[in-house]
Amino acid sequence: MSKTIIITGGAGFIGSHVVRLFVNKYPDYRIINLDKLTYAGNLSNLKDVEQKPNYKFVKMDICDFPAVLKLMQDEQADGIIHLAAESHVDRSIKDPFSFAQTNVMGTLSLLQAAKAYWESLPEKYEGKRFYHISTDEVYGALEMTNPEGIEPPFSTKASSGAHHLAYGSAFFTEKTKYQPHSPYSAAKASSDHFVRAFHDTFGLPTIVTNCSNNYGPYQFPEKLIPLFVNNIRHRKPLPVYGKGENDRDWLYVEDPARAIDLIFHKGQIAETYNIGGFNEWKNIDIVKLLIKTTDRLLGRPEGVDMDLITYVTDRAGHDLRYAIDSTKLQRELGWEPSLQFEEGIEKTVRWYLDNQAWLDAVTSGDYQKYYESMYQGR
Ligand code: NAD
Ligand code: TYD
Repeated sequence: MSKTIIITGGAGFIGSHVVRLFVNKYPDYRIINLDKLTYAGNLSNLKDVEQKPNYKFVKMDICDFPAVLKLMQDEQADGIIHLAAESHVDRSIKDPFSFAQTNVMGTLSLLQAAKAYWESLPEKYEGKRFYHISTDEVYGALEMTNPEGIEPPFSTKASSGAHHLAYGSAFFTEKTKYQPHSPYSAAKASSDHFVRAFHDTFGLPTIVTNCSNNYGPYQFPEKLIPLFVNNIRHRKPLPVYGKGENDRDWLYVEDPARAIDLIFHKGQIAETYNIGGFNEWKNIDIVKLLIKTTDRLLGRPEGVDMDLITYVTDRAGHDLRYAIDSTKLQRELGWEPSLQFEEGIEKTVRWYLDNQAWLDAVTSGDYQKYYESMYQGR
């Protein structure tokens, strides 16, 4: 059945993978990519789909409520998949206002527009869906109850490589209390609450998912993995925050994109699903894997660049451990990651090495000044 779906933030990292998946998989859907094109949004992320007849790009700020409402009316949107956000924790520490503006007020503007448009239709909310993409960071930080690592209670394809560890016995479930610590996660938490409030108050057909760290092609190189691959290539220092002991649960971006497709179509209204890989890595172990992989792919002696590791002042309020329990999604909708971390890292490093022009284009100008100021501050 034909549908019109607005995907917000479709020119960003995860959004571009979701847009690509939907445009290619559903030729009878109309996919509208609504993006403001901030520093993190790049239309070059979508070169391969921009000519497809079922794809349309609209440059718009989600905070512009009248424009969003008009777009929903003009396009007769049946669904929204909402990814647009300010997404980098370090930036949120420097400039919390823009995070509250986009992540909270922008989400509210979309909710209000969806409500107003869908309530004006004879069928009202029938067949409609507002799917909000959020993060595991809203749950706060977990303890490292076993810093040496234990076998996690469940394994998935993402974690079944040589490295298969959990650094604590507790995991974030859909019932974990919200305890955000950074301005980024506080703003995302607030937006999640607004989404649920619109379901509970007005009956808006909402779904929320909270996902662990993503990596893969087209990620803006201020985030750990692309930043470090680029620095290793150019033999620039690798600024590891604190002792590099913080740990995160990582997923190759095409896996969450598949989960988003599944949940958009088969998820239950008003439900929350956690998306994660049972694939925990300490930052320092990732950095060493990145150095070895990048060196090997560049034909350098493997590990020769280990001396680029530079321990710098820790991030303020740095969450120690994130670990997602995604058994609900696996049990109810049958989703599983498809790739082991080592395989995903190899694909990712190769992509950044093969796409230096993309890296140069997105890191030119203002970004370079911003990066230097961040690094000097440490
Ligand atoms: P990103 O920073 O790469 O992309 C964000 C996109 O949103 C960009 O294209 C940007 O131009 C657009 N945008 C920003 N402000 C906007 C505005 N006011 N109006 C319209 N568009 C705007 O982010 P990402 O890493 O792809 O994350 C996407 C979503 O997934 C976010 O909501 C984030 O909180 C969530 N998430 C990300 C991760 C991760 O590891 N990257 C993990 C879990 C959840
Ligand atoms: P990041 O990619 O910013 O994602 P998030 O903070 O949302 O998890 O960072 C991943 C981890 O890497 C996090 O623990 C912070 C750390 N980190 C560094 O040690 N150095 C860096 O330069 C960056 C960007 C991150």
